[in-house]
Amino acid sequence: MYPIMKRFSLLLLFVAFSGLSFATTDFFRVMFNRNGDQEATIGWNQVSGDSAVVYWGKEDLAPNRFIEYPNLAPVVHANQYKGMDNRFVRLSNLEPNTAYYFVVKDSDGVSERYWFKTTPDSNTSRLSFIAGGDSRSRREARTQGFKMVGKLAPHAILFDGDYTDIDNSTKWKFWFEDYKASYTEFDNRIIPIITTRGNHEQSNDCLIKFFDCPDKKNVYNVTMGGDLVNIICLNTEIAFGGTQKKFLEETLIEHENFLWQIPMYHRACRPHVNWKMKMRGVKQIYKKWIALFEKHGVRLAIECDSHITKVTWPIVKGKTKGIEDGFIRDDENGIVYAGEGCWGAPLRVPDRIRSWTRDAGKINSFKWLFVSNKEIEMRTVEYMNADSVKGLTDETRFDIPTNINLWSPPNGALVTINK
Ligand SMILES: [Fe+2]
Repeated sequence: MYPIMKRFSLLLLFVAFSGLSFATTDFFRVMFNRNGDQEATIGWNQVSGDSAVVYWGKEDLAPNRFIEYPNLAPVVHANQYKGMDNRFVRLSNLEPNTAYYFVVKDSDGVSERYWFKTTPDSNTSRLSFIAGGDSRSRREARTQGFKMVGKLAPHAILFDGDYTDIDNSTKWKFWFEDYKASYTEFDNRIIPIITTRGNHEQSNDCLIKFFDCPDKKNVYNVTMGGDLVNIICLNTEIAFGGTQKKFLEETLIEHENFLWQIPMYHRACRPHVNWKMKMRGVKQIYKKWIALFEKHGVRLAIECDSHITKVTWPIVKGKTKGIEDGFIRDDENGIVYAGEGCWGAPLRVPDRIRSWTRDAGKINSFKWLFVSNKEIEMRTVEYMNADSVKGLTDETRFDIPTNINLWSPPNGALVTINK
């Protein structure tokens, strides 16, 4: 026994004096909050210790070499919220399409080494996104979803609200724990997340305090791929008109030269679960936002909230004969509405199908988008077999893994959206 005890004591001494300890920080996250080509925000939970700073750079250096990282970023936003001590650093003037490595150094030690990658700043590069939401309560499904994110190596996650069911500290800790499944198996690579508020987030504070959301109303936009895409994050829990509508119009006009503008908002304009048609948003989105989407050339909108899978044909608002629930199919000018949130929430049956519904189903899934300057390819991934899917890399991220389960409804697994 004695030699073993001695070795253990020596190990403890080494940890104590080397400053290396992995237990003081947790729940790392990376956000694209404005421009994924040049900026990123790093957040974490400070469990103990103080005076935290981030050491970062382009070279992959182990935690014990933290001093060799060329850059130092101070905490610019800290808050105590729902049982966590959230700290954030904001990195800017980053190089596009570049891996950045980082550690957190505090009074207690140095974190593990994490990394992320910025997006390319040219519209000739394709971008891969996972879009989904409603990860509320079924942790096994939620975790498989995050594991599948890691396997597909997208440029970013577009997360469309309802992270937890009851928005308390325990549930958020579970959420951050499960989110780790997207990076722990892949050498601590964190896929940046773009966040939207759902109705289960009880206030706008959630996004601000957990993700350093840049707007107090959670209404903002993120560009990636140079002028390839402008993601517009809207908030269906506040007034749809007023300043939110003004922002929507302004960002659509400001980015009119962009190849794609994709609004993302939690509640669906036309839910495919019948009782959801009574909810706020049904009238308001139709009245306040849709005309602006159509006027400014939107071709795809991301929705959530009903816990079903749906894709519409391209549709436009109309008053003519043949409309159903205010819309009619128009392949030339229409917008495809995709959703509606199956990332761990209890599933429902889509019981409100229209003539312009392309397909709908009751499946644990999220959307997988390839965005190029010519078209958007969209597939629906049934992520529950994530464990058996061979992971993609940056070089192969536009391949389809052989044993991935893609939802294949009557109108086909691949939805192509043209300019
Ligand atoms: Fe919801």
